[in-house]
Amino acid sequence: MTDTQSSRLAAETATGGSIVDVSFTVNGSATSVTVEARRTLSDVIREDCELTGTHLGCEHGVCGACTVLVDGQPSRSCLMLAAQAEGRDITTIEGLAGPDGELHPVQQAMMDAHGFQCAFCSPGFLMSTVALLDENPDPTSEEIREELSGNLCRCTGYQSIVDGVERAVKIMKGGSK
Ligand code: FES
Ligand code: FES
Repeated sequence: MTDTQSSRLAAETATGGSIVDVSFTVNGSATSVTVEARRTLSDVIREDCELTGTHLGCEHGVCGACTVLVDGQPSRSCLMLAAQAEGRDITTIEGLAGPDGELHPVQQAMMDAHGFQCAFCSPGFLMSTVALLDENPDPTSEEIREELSGNLCRCTGYQSIVDGVERAVKIMKGGSK
């Protein structure tokens, strides 16, 4: 038995579960982790990748705070096993700004509109909004509310968030900033 196999066996014995190697891209960087098969993508993003911008609220698929993009689609990372991310392209909130730190238009718009208060929900809303505007660059107010209805906010009453999305639409269409 090789050292690697011995280490894996020791880890599996200690944890009582199987260990898997997973490779994926996160925010453009190729990443490989060796994790217990039962661990969620959200935990691996936060703890192994040290990308703590992805927040955890309910941890059972209700609040949307943990939303990341998986191959461009908004996904609740608390409901996804890290092993399911094999070969996928993951984008987290840390991946939205440009390399020089320039905010993504959705981030800029939300900041301009004072979209959030405590901002615990903001990473999930921002990722969901980026996906929404990718699919539908000019949504109506009703479409924005419908598409973001899976994200919960305990502070704002949602109007300021909708205002922020509408501002992002204008920025992304090249309108006034
Ligand atoms: S933490 Fe994932 S949906 Fe609430
Ligand atoms: S701003 Fe506080 S939960 Fe949304």
